[in-house]
Amino acid sequence: MRPEIHVSGDDVEMVTQLKNYLTKRLKYLLDMPGTIGIGVSGGSMPPIFTKALFACDADLLNWKRIRIFMVDERYVDKDDEQSNLGTYLKLFPPELAYVFVPIPICNDLSLTARLYEDNLRRILLPEQSGTSPRFDLLFLGCGPDGHTASLFPGDRAEHVTEYGWVGVVQDSPKPPKTRITLSFASLKFAKHSAFIITGAPKAHVVRAIWDRDNTLPASMARPYNDRLTLFVDEAAAKSLPSRDSSEESDSRSPQPFD
Ligand code: 6PG
Repeated sequence: MRPEIHVSGDDVEMVTQLKNYLTKRLKYLLDMPGTIGIGVSGGSMPPIFTKALFACDADLLNWKRIRIFMVDERYVDKDDEQSNLGTYLKLFPPELAYVFVPIPICNDLSLTARLYEDNLRRILLPEQSGTSPRFDLLFLGCGPDGHTASLFPGDRAEHVTEYGWVGVVQDSPKPPKTRITLSFASLKFAKHSAFIITGAPKAHVVRAIWDRDNTLPASMARPYNDRLTLFVDEAAAKSLPSRDSSEESDSRSPQPFD
């Protein structure tokens, strides 16, 4: 199944599209039992995701059940300006800091990854497929090199944890060099994933995702159940096939829920 595509002319339109998507997902997930786990990425995503989330109806923002976690993180303390978690904490009301799954950054990288995996297991209690987690909702970005999360071309992620939910990277081509990242398995078993991608330098990656061309990590991260949505600006959408009505209808066919 082709991914659902939403092309926006500007940030305001993208925030509205994201808010509508979040509203649909949260309405469904709130009817289900358990903690709602939402994975988010760093880079340019924090402000646009945060705006869209807080644009949702207040009654959907059930902070007793919603927990947010980092799809990947730089191996820095959360007070460091490079910290993804730190960036979100600055954007969220301070009284909501508890909704974020902590990443216990310590001076042992592998131990940090194991402790983060433990927190994800203990706090989110996600459904599992074998030993892999089925996270409710993941928001991913990508780089012009086709990386997503901190999974870069050339498979640099080392597996240092018991269940392989999280890996570590020590030679990231994108600074900083050392990172913790969800593994491919954790991305691929997600229940719903959405990419937020802007800018012409990434148009070929958007096309690779559309074409299932599994040569790039971003395309390889497509969930097994194909429940994938792309939020792209016009520049990032420029290499997509012109979506005539038939293709439009195919890519827009309502996605079955979990
Ligand atoms: C990170 C990110 C990373 C990001 C892409 C896109 O920690 O660097 O999580 O995977 O999503 O690099 O970044 P931009 O949106 O800033 O281009």
